[in-house]
Amino acid sequence: MKAIVYERNGDASVLQLVERPIPEPGPGEVLVRMAVSGVNPTDWKARHVRPLPAGWQIPHQDGAGVIEAVGEGVDQILIGARVWLWEAAWQRPWGTAAEYTVVPVRHAVRLGSASFDLGAALGIPFMTAHRCLTAGEFMPDKLHAGALSGHVVLVQGGAGAVGNAAIQLARWADACVIATVSGPEKAQLAAAAGASHVINYREQDVVEEVRKIAPDGVHTIVEVSAARNAADDVQLLRAGGAVCVYADDGGDEVTLPIRPLMLPNARWQFVLIYTAPKAAKAQAVVDVSAAVAQGAVRVGEEAGLPLHHYSLAATAAAHKAVESSMVGKVLITTSET
Ligand SMILES: NC(=O)c1ccc[n+]([C@@H]2O[C@H](COP(=O)([O-])OP(=O)(O)OC[C@H]3O[C@@H](n4cnc5c(N)ncnc54)[C@H](OP(=O)(O)O)[C@@H]3O)[C@@H](O)[C@H]2O)c1
Repeated sequence: MKAIVYERNGDASVLQLVERPIPEPGPGEVLVRMAVSGVNPTDWKARHVRPLPAGWQIPHQDGAGVIEAVGEGVDQILIGARVWLWEAAWQRPWGTAAEYTVVPVRHAVRLGSASFDLGAALGIPFMTAHRCLTAGEFMPDKLHAGALSGHVVLVQGGAGAVGNAAIQLARWADACVIATVSGPEKAQLAAAAGASHVINYREQDVVEEVRKIAPDGVHTIVEVSAARNAADDVQLLRAGGAVCVYADDGGDEVTLPIRPLMLPNARWQFVLIYTAPKAAKAQAVVDVSAAVAQGAVRVGEEAGLPLHHYSLAATAAAHKAVESSMVGKVLITTSET
């Protein structure tokens, strides 16, 4: 099979297109013929710093394809199933940037008739968004239509991949969604994703605008840049509200005023999807799959997430695009499945 492999950390030039034997699924694993591999910021960050215990790494956590074989203990009925993959490369060398990969069976989730492009966009962004929408004190453990009715959610960075997923999932769950963006094109994307209100944080006063919409404050803030937005977030939480911080974009330290956060019993919840509670991730898989089956989450410009396709051989260019914050979703077509 063709695969992208790197054998040392470094810039995108370490990514090599090579021929490798098709892997055998071990006990509890499935072999997946990949159709599309999804690229996330975590993939280029890992390429720079994460150790390579096997001495080599096929990158990318997310992807979609068809189960071609199963290992010992896995039901044969899964052969032929269209699936989306999550955390394929977390503490394993078998990422999705290849014609085939192997994953533990619970990391291969039925995709039904949804597109492989959507399947490859789900894992990291949608599971992170799900965690951010369910971790707060007010929030339900499960998302479904109606689960967030009466809730106000603020998504800081609504045109990002995680921001887009948070908007789509929160709208599916019937929340009132407010999103912030840096300019008019991103405003259109956040609105297309389903945000009820979009605020340009460069031109408008976010606190003033959110208060007009939600005078009592918001239940949850999905936060990409706590270092820049903490002062606003503190003023915008309603009693018992939560700020769910999933990234350190724009700065990696934050200063918080204690008493203004004690008073409303506010919660700051830090989120890293890899180490999030197992039960929360299992629920995210169930809920995201339900949203897909109901046609409630989509990809493409009309869903606020423009797609950018690359070939497997162009994976280095795809990494550079994500590293330079290309707007939308970067996908690698791994085969013509
Ligand atoms: N913790 C986890 O488990 C987890 C999971 C997924 C991703 N992440 C991390 O989350 C970050 C975003 O990932 P992504 O895939 O969504 O990237 P992305 O598609 O590049 O989106 C990032 C978005 O954040 C916006 N942004 C940056 N500073 C902002 C600010 N001060 N206020 C509001 N919006 C701001 C950017 O737009 P503007 O700059 O134009 O505003 C951009 O739309 C990355 O650092 C990634 O590594 C973490």
